Amino acid sequence: MKLRPDIALTFDDVLLVPRHSSIRSRQDIDLSSQLTREIQLHLPIISANMDTVTEASMAIAMAQHGGIGVLHRFMSLERQAEQVRKVKRAESLVVHNPLTISPDASVAQARQVMVDENVGGLVVVDESGRLAGMVTTRDVLLATDPLLPVRAVMTPRERLVVAGTNETLEAAREKLYQARVEKLPLITPAGTLTGLITAQDIVKIQEHPHATKDQLGRLRVGAALGVRSEDVERAAACIEAGADLLVVDIAHGDSDHTIQMVKRLKQSFPGTGVMAGNVATGDGVRELADAGADSIKVGVGAGSICITRIVTGFGVPQLTAIADCAEVSRKLDLPLVADGGMRTSGDVTKALAAGASTVMLGSMLAGTEEAPGAEIVRDGRRYKVVRGMASLSANVERRKLDNTVVEFTEEDWTEVVPEGVEAFVPYRGDVADILIQVAGGVRSGMSYAGARTIPVLWENAEFVRVTPAGTKESGSHDVNLI
Ligand code: XMP
Repeated sequence: MKLRPDIALTFDDVLLVPRHSSIRSRQDIDLSSQLTREIQLHLPIISANMDTVTEASMAIAMAQHGGIGVLHRFMSLERQAEQVRKVKRAESLVVHNPLTISPDASVAQARQVMVDENVGGLVVVDESGRLAGMVTTRDVLLATDPLLPVRAVMTPRERLVVAGTNETLEAAREKLYQARVEKLPLITPAGTLTGLITAQDIVKIQEHPHATKDQLGRLRVGAALGVRSEDVERAAACIEAGADLLVVDIAHGDSDHTIQMVKRLKQSFPGTGVMAGNVATGDGVRELADAGADSIKVGVGAGSICITRIVTGFGVPQLTAIADCAEVSRKLDLPLVADGGMRTSGDVTKALAAGASTVMLGSMLAGTEEAPGAEIVRDGRRYKVVRGMASLSANVERRKLDNTVVEFTEEDWTEVVPEGVEAFVPYRGDVADILIQVAGGVRSGMSYAGARTIPVLWENAEFVRVTPAGTKESGSHDVNLI
């Protein structure tokens, strides 16, 4: 038995000491940070891979605002890959596989495709893939003869505004504006269709200048995996669908099976970043780094819905865990993700100051519109559900998904030892509003540290321990809140 002499600390145990700052405006602060060695985020925030936090709509919103979402793994491989595809399709300058139709198809067929695919227009291409025209709802909606061929109602190639395959955003915007049209087909010199730029996509791009994007201008997204051999297939399907990051999601990441999985993923998919965890010690960081991980997730039992520490007796208070892990990861130049336990923008600042490059948030984002699940009204107030991925209900659903149990017997119920709980969190509207508040708080915090960037924050951060009286003083006190 060994008892460490030092006291382990978490967010409420400390405050950051203000220091001289020459920063005049929060806007001078750069929050960009490494997600992995390869991928940078403008906003160092990741939405947690929990089934009450991240599916496609959360991942889309997170990436649009400069962070990233990690799609949870408690769904079939096919569904997870489809969710990846949904994020990748959400925004890009060029639609690489636009919906097309033959000039010989009927108006009725064109109408049907537009309804089925929920689009307002189709590119018309001939049998050799050459652009022949465009057909929109306006062309087909009121056409009297549904059997007319598309060629009779389409706008023909000669009357279309087109561009070459390497059109820039600015040039495309100008062409669309000058012609007052919404769609710009891209073609080779021989006339073969290679893609489509839409006015709507340009607007989206301009609305989110700091979005997290891949080389093709598509939003980036992560996909969580377990450590079973089937999870290699899951990884392959998600990468095929366009996933930018694999997240090996294991409660005790400093373990043989996690290390083997990281090695396997790095061998099979050398071009894709692997985030691995969770660990709470420098040794854990070293093990996963040796296995080839591209970033490490820190946090054992810190999450709002976790009861691992109660059930098992294990865990390290989160601020100490981050600081201990950062000591090792910094030497290896490996980004660290602080996962779990943050409730305020102040906690996020402390996690970053302690050495994290990014933070992963669960319950802080679970009450938002984009989180999966419907809202619930109780006593006139709106809530959403958040649950630990090791909670009883999540365990039951996982076993059903795995087909290990079809009907749950009493014995099955008693076998489950939950390490998480289910809870309500207040409904909090759009995730964008939460991100603005958190980013604003962190920016303000960094100005107290005189730090324009996160690496300078690491250097400048000085923590003091606080007593319960100090913690009480930190909140509003001795007033009646309105
Ligand atoms: P927050 O505090 O942001 O934490 O809600 C989110 C993180 O909590 C972890 N997590 C769990 N930990 N039992 C645990 O011990 C669970 O059932 C559980 N579910 C999620 C996870 O790391 C997540 O990102």
